[in-house]
Amino acid sequence: MNMSAFPSSLFATLLLGVAVTTATAQAGAGNLVPGPTTEDLAWKIGKSVKKPADNAGTPAQVELGKALFFDPRLSGNGTVSCATCHNPALGWSDGLKTGIGINGQKLPRSSPTIVNAAYNTQLMWDGRARSLEDQALGPMKTPEEMSTDFKHMKLMLQSLQGYRAMFARAYPGEPIAEETAAKAIAAFERTVVSTDSRFDKWLAGDRRAITQQEWRGFQLFKAPNKGNCAVCHSGPNFTDNGFHNIGIAHSGPGEPDEGRFRQRGVASMKGAFKTPTLRDIALTGPYFHDGSATTLRDVVAHYNRGGDQPSTGKLSPEVRPLNLTESEQDDLVAFMKSLTGIQRPIALPVLPQ
Ligand code: HEC
Ligand code: HEC
Repeated sequence: MNMSAFPSSLFATLLLGVAVTTATAQAGAGNLVPGPTTEDLAWKIGKSVKKPADNAGTPAQVELGKALFFDPRLSGNGTVSCATCHNPALGWSDGLKTGIGINGQKLPRSSPTIVNAAYNTQLMWDGRARSLEDQALGPMKTPEEMSTDFKHMKLMLQSLQGYRAMFARAYPGEPIAEETAAKAIAAFERTVVSTDSRFDKWLAGDRRAITQQEWRGFQLFKAPNKGNCAVCHSGPNFTDNGFHNIGIAHSGPGEPDEGRFRQRGVASMKGAFKTPTLRDIALTGPYFHDGSATTLRDVVAHYNRGGDQPSTGKLSPEVRPLNLTESEQDDLVAFMKSLTGIQRPIALPVLPQ
């Protein structure tokens, strides 16, 4: 069969089909894994996300936000868009240890995924943004990221017939300005969600959806005397929306990153960072706020040795040597890989002219 005759999206779908079938067959071959307990249902994720009253997320708003998200013309020199660092082909992150902004400038922190950011009540590694609307203007303003000149951006958007029509459809009566653009981007981000992983299917009652190894990994993940992961990675989005110092050693030049402490000056917040989601985690390495862990196995090894000497502040008492065997560590990794949602090809927007 000549595969090149297939459109690539169909080919990707076919491949995915094969992967899912293999996992099902594995689970089916031995005995089925147990179903979820009542407590496990705390991880069940709702399909709808909270939206602000003045930003309902109509199709026209999402379409506008998508165009803006992918449009490098929003940046100071026309080269950087949100998607440069939050790239759908790289799990809506960038595959780099830390972000690279305009003119190749290296950022101090790793680019988190935007997948399921809509579910979080704390945004950014240090929680300095409270809503997606709030957050969107940040990277534009930052000189190292997009270095947007808002006056220039407004003129650009107003001068293009395509954008004028889209703004009018999306936010009738509102000006073409950075606040409206931020609302549209937030509306688009609320559609970038992961709620249909094999783990979710298992939670919904399909005992063939995960393998024995993945199920064992979840048990280790929850057990306080084993992985103890769920004490922080709790709830539907695998985060307590809290901040913890998990013992990341100092790396690179410069002062240690004080994390949450800069927003909230209490001692326990020194070197504390937001608990990130684990959904789609297999797609978003390298890991940690400084990108210091390359693989999920490295992450598990970090926790297994009880973290490292923190670059600043005090290690959380919840992080301590775990004494997990090699195969238990593999099980934890396998479990985290079952949290990847179905990947649908995303059509890149045609940029408005
Ligand atoms: C040069 C790379 C870069 C660009 C461009 C960029 N970001 Fe980010 N983004 C980051 C980094 C790095 C962080 C984490 C920064 C921190 O916590 O201090 C981040 C954090 C975020 C978060 C928080 C996610 C969470 O769960 O905490 C969102 C949402 C986000 N960016 C959206 C956007 C949007 C929208 C744009 C375009 C307007 C954008 N980003 C442009 C690198 C980038
Ligand atoms: C004390 C709370 C806490 C515990 C316990 C904990 N985590 Fe974390 N986890 C965090 C925080 C906070 C971060 C981000 C830390 C940073 O980058 O400085 C994180 C980061 C991660 C990351 C990287 C995510 C990313 O996007 O970079 C993974 C994967 C992860 N944890 C998995 C686990 C596993 C598996 C366990 C159990 C073995 C575990 N965590 C236990 C709080 C915790």
